[in-house]
Amino acid sequence: MSSIVIRALQSARDGTFRRKIAVRMHELHWGILHQMEWLVFYLGKAPWQCAIKAWYMRLWGAEVGKNLYMERAVMLKGAEDLKIGDNVAIGAFSLINAAGGLIIEDNVNISTGCRVVCVNHSVPPVGVDTRFAPCWSAPIRLKKGCWLATNAIILPGVTVGEGAIVVAGSLVTKDVPDWSYVAGIPAKFMMFREGYKPPKPKPAEETKTPG
Ligand SMILES: CC(C)(COP(=O)(O)OP(=O)(O)OC[C@H]1O[C@@H](n2cnc3c(N)ncnc32)[C@H](O)[C@@H]1OP(=O)(O)O)[C@@H](O)C(=O)NCCC(=O)NCCS
Repeated sequence: MSSIVIRALQSARDGTFRRKIAVRMHELHWGILHQMEWLVFYLGKAPWQCAIKAWYMRLWGAEVGKNLYMERAVMLKGAEDLKIGDNVAIGAFSLINAAGGLIIEDNVNISTGCRVVCVNHSVPPVGVDTRFAPCWSAPIRLKKGCWLATNAIILPGVTVGEGAIVVAGSLVTKDVPDWSYVAGIPAKFMMFREGYKPPKPKPAEETKTPG
C-alpha cells in the first residue's frame, strides 16, 4: 500500500501523472468531438448551421473558405486533405472522400447525391477479398465555378475544368475541359458552354528529317 502511495507521490512530482491525465483528457476530447460527426453533419443549411460545419471541418484540418453552403447529411472523410474555397455549395447526401488531396475551388456547385472520391481499392488476385486489398489515392481538383449536377461521380485523379458542367448521373474517369459539358458513363465531352471560345489548337511543329 505504502509503495503505491510513494509511486503516486513520485509520479506527481516528476510530472508523469499529470502527463498521463493530460493525454487521457486529450484522447477523450477528440473522441467526443469525433462522435459529434453525425450530429454536425445532420444540421441543416441555415448560415449558422453551415458555419458550425465549417468550424468542425477546420478542427479536423480542412481549409475552408467563406460562405460555405452545405446541406444536410453530407458524408465527409479525410478532412485533413481537404481545401475548400469561397462560396462553395455542397448538396444533401453527397459523399466527399478527400483522403489523398481534394481541392474545391471558389464558386463550385456540388448538387445532391454526388460522390467525389480520391480513394480506390486496388484489385487483388482472384481469391483475395477486395475488402482487404490495399488502397491507393490520387488528388482531385474541382476548378472555379464548375458544377457537378445531381448524382455525378468523380473518380480519383480527375480535374474538372473551370466552369465545366458534369451533367446529372455522369461518371467521370478523365479530366474535363474548361467550360465544357460532359455526360454519360464513362463521361464524354458533349459541347462547350454557350459563349465560350475554346483556344485554337497549335499547328503541329514541322518535323525535321535527319541529315
Ligand atoms: C446539364 C443539364 C442542365 C442540361 O440541360 P439542357 O441544357 O437543358 O439539355 P437538354 O435537356 O436540352 O438536353 C440536351 C441533350 O443532352 C442529353 N442529356 C441531358 N441531360 C443528360 C444527362 N444527364 N445524361 C445524358 N444525356 C443528357 C439530352 O438527352 C439531349 O440529347 P439529344 O440532343 O440527343 O436529345 C441537365 O442535363 C442536368 O444535368 N441537370 C441537372 C439537374 C440537377 O442536378 N439539379 C440540381 C439538383 S440539387
